[in-house]
Amino acid sequence: MRMTDLISKKRDGGELSGEEINFMIQGYTQGEIPDYQMSAMCMAILFRGMNDREILDLTMSMMHSGDVMDLSAIDGVKADKHSTGGVGDKTSLVLCPMVAACGVKIAKMSGRGLGHTGGTLDKLESFPGLSISISDEQFVENVNRCGIAIIGQTADIVPADKLLYALRDVTGTVPSIPLIVSSIMSKKLASGADVIVLDVKCGSGAFMKTEDEAAELARGLTRVGRLAGRKCAAVITDMDQPLGNAVGNALEVKEAIAVLKGEEKGELLELCLRIGSLILTEGGLAESLEDAEKMLLQAIESGAALKKLSQMVEAQGGCADDVYDTSRLPEAPVKYALKAEESGYISRIDAEGVGLVSMHLGGGRATKESDIDLSVGVLLNKKLGDRVEVGETLAIIHAASEESAVNQAENLRACFTLSAEPVELPAFIKGIVR
Ligand code: URA
Repeated sequence: MRMTDLISKKRDGGELSGEEINFMIQGYTQGEIPDYQMSAMCMAILFRGMNDREILDLTMSMMHSGDVMDLSAIDGVKADKHSTGGVGDKTSLVLCPMVAACGVKIAKMSGRGLGHTGGTLDKLESFPGLSISISDEQFVENVNRCGIAIIGQTADIVPADKLLYALRDVTGTVPSIPLIVSSIMSKKLASGADVIVLDVKCGSGAFMKTEDEAAELARGLTRVGRLAGRKCAAVITDMDQPLGNAVGNALEVKEAIAVLKGEEKGELLELCLRIGSLILTEGGLAESLEDAEKMLLQAIESGAALKKLSQMVEAQGGCADDVYDTSRLPEAPVKYALKAEESGYISRIDAEGVGLVSMHLGGGRATKESDIDLSVGVLLNKKLGDRVEVGETLAIIHAASEESAVNQAENLRACFTLSAEPVELPAFIKGIVR
């Protein structure tokens, strides 16, 4: 078999066999197929597409390029959730304890933030003493004992994706549905969960800018999950503004805790109820979405969801009480109120822009190696559709110094667009794919 022939075949609209896909993925991972040939193949796939069978074969071949987690030592239904990436997205911190309190096992491997997007691992490290690197044995034991553990990747999961993603990033081949689906699903399948729910973001702060693109991606992801024998569903959600009010690691943890305490409602809770209901029904723990939602609300009202978070924090080396009293979590020394200079209705909050402000305050990484300040970020005081008068606070910048806050104030102001007329709010949950 020759890679040149496979490239020509795909370029001319042909269908690649499972054997051909395997040859290409394993050859590329082992360094036998050069970057220039793989780039040409990615471009051919981007233009010609792939059918369901090819996407499944590509996903499975990528999944088997490295270690595959064996979660069989964990009793019960194991669930995982994945978001295609957003700003202020602290969903996992709320959702995972909620569903764990309803009897689902959460054995989750999460990532760190890069650029304008945050990562669950960084947020979790806001709990003093908490470790995201525990042994595989400890991980399984914690999940069996507490029902929940969230850690960094230990095994060498999907090395093919690490190479391919870096290549796609510099060859204009990221926005291809077959390549995105195989990239995301190979990692999710290798992580071993029985139930996978995907949160596909759509809008200015997201990867998929339109609803149609997001729906196509959601259908592709769920199809592959089901063809691979997992229970799989997706929600399509708006990312035309940051999710919730907080952007920044410790700030987001505090907001997640407020939702788990029942003190904060709004879109973050709505999203967690929706994803949580899909997990409980797909996992067979609830008969209907309505029953599932009641169970999840009950987990908040009874304090069981918050207790799950505290058990997880303690099992991973932190202090259980920090969930109930957040005063030991990192707190920025400077709080700078950004005041409105005109009045009107908020018609846009550039999510990516707010994420970049948080990154420049020190809360995110410009490169994989950067250190971050867990205390800094932005707390939005106004959201899409809200009325604002001159002099009212739009947002509070949490910064390490007055200078750093002032440096970011105008960048943050530029993220807000005001209109003279009231604004019709877009639906937050745009669709569900089951
Ligand atoms: N996220 C991934 O993991 N892979 C992609 O290709 C796109 C988003």
